[in-house]
Amino acid sequence: SQNKLWGGRFQEPTDEFVERFTASITFDQRFYKQDIRGSLAHAAMLEKAGILNASELADIQRGLQEIEAEIEAGDFAWSIGLEDVHMNIEAALTERIGITGKKLHTGRSRNDQVATDIRLWLRDEIDRIEQQCIRAQAGIVKLAQQEAETIMPGFTHLQTAQPVTFGHHLLAWYEMLKRDHSRLIDCRKRLNESPLGAAALAGTTYPIQRELTSDMLGFDRPTANSLDSVSDRDFAIEFCAAAALCLTHLSRMSEELVIWTSAQFNFIKLPDRFCTGSSIMPQKKNPDVPELIRGKTGRMNGHLIALLTLMKSQPLAYNKDNQEDKEPLFDAVDTLHDCLRAFADMVPAIQANKDEMRNAALKGFATATDLADYLVVKGMPFRDAHEVVGKAVAFGVDEQRDLSEMSLAELQRFSDIIGADVFDVLTLEGSVAARDHLGGTAPNQVRAATERALTHLQSF
Ligand code: ARG
Repeated sequence: SQNKLWGGRFQEPTDEFVERFTASITFDQRFYKQDIRGSLAHAAMLEKAGILNASELADIQRGLQEIEAEIEAGDFAWSIGLEDVHMNIEAALTERIGITGKKLHTGRSRNDQVATDIRLWLRDEIDRIEQQCIRAQAGIVKLAQQEAETIMPGFTHLQTAQPVTFGHHLLAWYEMLKRDHSRLIDCRKRLNESPLGAAALAGTTYPIQRELTSDMLGFDRPTANSLDSVSDRDFAIEFCAAAALCLTHLSRMSEELVIWTSAQFNFIKLPDRFCTGSSIMPQKKNPDVPELIRGKTGRMNGHLIALLTLMKSQPLAYNKDNQEDKEPLFDAVDTLHDCLRAFADMVPAIQANKDEMRNAALKGFATATDLADYLVVKGMPFRDAHEVVGKAVAFGVDEQRDLSEMSLAELQRFSDIIGADVFDVLTLEGSVAARDHLGGTAPNQVRAATERALTHLQSF
């Protein structure tokens, strides 16, 4: 126990298994950079407050910079005995610069230190993830622009409902990711407060300047309550909630890609580089990337539930339970980043099989609603029109013919107000072009929506 930074009151060494069981160094070394950044700000503040002198500050700065370089070079020896990233770095500092190293922790606790570190770390990671989210959105919008006129069946209940343009479908994906993006920005805003100075839980007796460290670390302001500061992990939960929702969206898009690449649908081609083969079936080309994204949604939901459950019923203030926040958060960050990246890489490579899509839209009486709307325009109440078209569809099912493939005389058997102009609305192109309002599927609405989306994306 004598080489532990807290060993003073202990009379026997820590049990060897307990040492490993309680250590976080195997994973929390991941935010060494933020830990050093926080320590540099804290030390600079201590000097301004007259707690350290200028040469002590210079020694601490030099020592921490050397340690950072050593870690980056892969030469730093992390020790389980020193429990976590904070004590590993602090012990290395003292080893390097001597007694002054022991002054760094004045007016600070690992409790406010770790809360500061994770916020700094997550803030950087959100910025990195945001870039991938923007790439994915931009890729979707560009494909939508290209496919503004491509017609496919739109589905409800996965049954053919009405024709839509592929571009319009893609822009629905864009809207999902746009909301996910704004949730990430929102999470970043709320996490950007500095817990430093809360110390263990009650604050500190030293004349610290919390605004100063907050500013130096790029936080918007110091947190308001010391007890809350060391125990709050809302930001991690909020991030995981935003990430889980984003992956839910990616899983829905991925599911559609998987369906569309099947021989039965054959709506799109995914280039070989995003697929893998089968070790037994020579013909197979499997859409592994979208499948894996779909699958990763499971672990993401798990991380959200893990963190909610971790925090449930915890009394104030810091509890060791909180050390368990890191692994779920780290994996949530990595998973979200990689899934967005994979999606952003893949989307521009999607090739639409336009003929297959169009032919699919010709099956399933996709323009039945258009015929009903036509009858309404000619004066028939909508419910009666629904009935008339239903009968025409039943006839088409028997005859295996689409409404557009029936003759005028055949159609007139169901209603004599049908005229030759009916064929304008029974075509797929006529059907999509008629939905020409904000948020509608008409090609010119899709083009206008892509313009708005690109302008929006340029603001980031
Ligand atoms: N490794 C700890 C964690 O991740 C750092 C804070 C430890 N504080 C304490 N009082 N034991 O939460």
